[in-house]
Amino acid sequence: MTEKWVHGEVVNVKHWTESLYSVFVSAPAVKFVAGQYTKLSLSLKNEEVARPYSFVNSPDEELLEFYSVSVPNGPLSTAMQTLKKGDSIKVGPRGNGFLILEEIPNVENIWMLATGTAIGPYLSILKTKNSWDKFKKVVLVHAVRYKKELTYQDTINTLKEEYKDRFIYITYVSREEAEYSLKGRIPKDISNGILEEKAGLKMKPDNTHVMICGNPEMLKDTTVELKKIGLKKHRRNSPGHITTENYW
Ligand SMILES: Cc1cc2nc3c(=O)[nH]c(=O)nc-3n(C[C@H](O)[C@H](O)[C@H](O)COP(=O)(O)OP(=O)(O)OC[C@H]3O[C@@H](n4cnc5c(N)ncnc54)[C@H](O)[C@@H]3O)c2cc1C
Ligand SMILES: NC(=O)c1ccc[n+]([C@@H]2O[C@H](COP(=O)([O-])OP(=O)(O)OC[C@H]3O[C@@H](n4cnc5c(N)ncnc54)[C@H](OP(=O)(O)O)[C@@H]3O)[C@@H](O)[C@H]2O)c1
Repeated sequence: MTEKWVHGEVVNVKHWTESLYSVFVSAPAVKFVAGQYTKLSLSLKNEEVARPYSFVNSPDEELLEFYSVSVPNGPLSTAMQTLKKGDSIKVGPRGNGFLILEEIPNVENIWMLATGTAIGPYLSILKTKNSWDKFKKVVLVHAVRYKKELTYQDTINTLKEEYKDRFIYITYVSREEAEYSLKGRIPKDISNGILEEKAGLKMKPDNTHVMICGNPEMLKDTTVELKKIGLKKHRRNSPGHITTENYW
């Protein structure tokens, strides 16, 4: 029988803002496919608290990387924020989940829509070289409340340099003005055509697959709008255009 947990050692914690941070963990035995998540667990007040987190690193990178927001009164996310180099954390031995390219039909353009920390699994996928063989263009859309939450700019810039006009990166900042970002929310801009216009691409059923990850309300509202333009949920036994992963 496989072990339930693998011992992980915290190698670094990068604090992006007062609430956003990334934890780098050494746990070489953990296996996963880009886009998947595993569980992390800490012993808090003598109780084990475990939650799922997506891998941000690609499978060929040495350290595991998890991107988290500290949710007010959230037991694990507030505790993980205080982790220091050398601390221990339990890590699930393997990845789970279907937000992976193996599950996506061959199409021309892949759209990856994220709120907040849900940009993580897409970065794992996009850092994995052979991911790019499958699509002509990749549109990564990241929606956050405030511009300081547009993290991972170094990774984004590396992808831009490498993939040039095959990589389209679009940002939303919903609660303040921000240069170069759209204001508001993704679903409305699907309905009014602003997102397609910004990307310079049409979301047509014969050339598009959309991955959506993060806030469950965003997933729901976005799916409603995508269905109006002819896209449908993707299932193994009934191929479609929309693949989703709720974060809560
Ligand atoms: C498949 C899967 C993958 C996940 N991957 C990640 C990840 O990579 N990074 C990450 O930060 N979280 C991720 N989550 C959420 C994560 O598991 C925890 O729920 C979160 O870190 C809060 O944990 P908590 O114990 O502090 O509070 P919880 O009791 O788990 O959550 C309390 C509340 O916080 C809110 N919340 C939870 N997660 C988020 C979030 N990411 N952004 C905004 N609000 C949130 C919700 O309102 C939730 O009801 C994932 C969840 C699932 C199901
Ligand atoms: N972000 C922060 O400054 C901050 C700081 C400390 C703690 N937290 C905690 O973290 C959690 C939320 O974090 P978050 O800001 O990463 O996630 P979030 O609330 O999911 O917001 C991320 C983005 O998703 C958008 N969104 C929300 N609902 C949507 C919908 N139905 N359709 C389309 N877009 C939608 C938001 O727009 P809107 O702005 O229009 O909602 C925002 O642009 C909360 O528990 C919060 O208290 C956040």
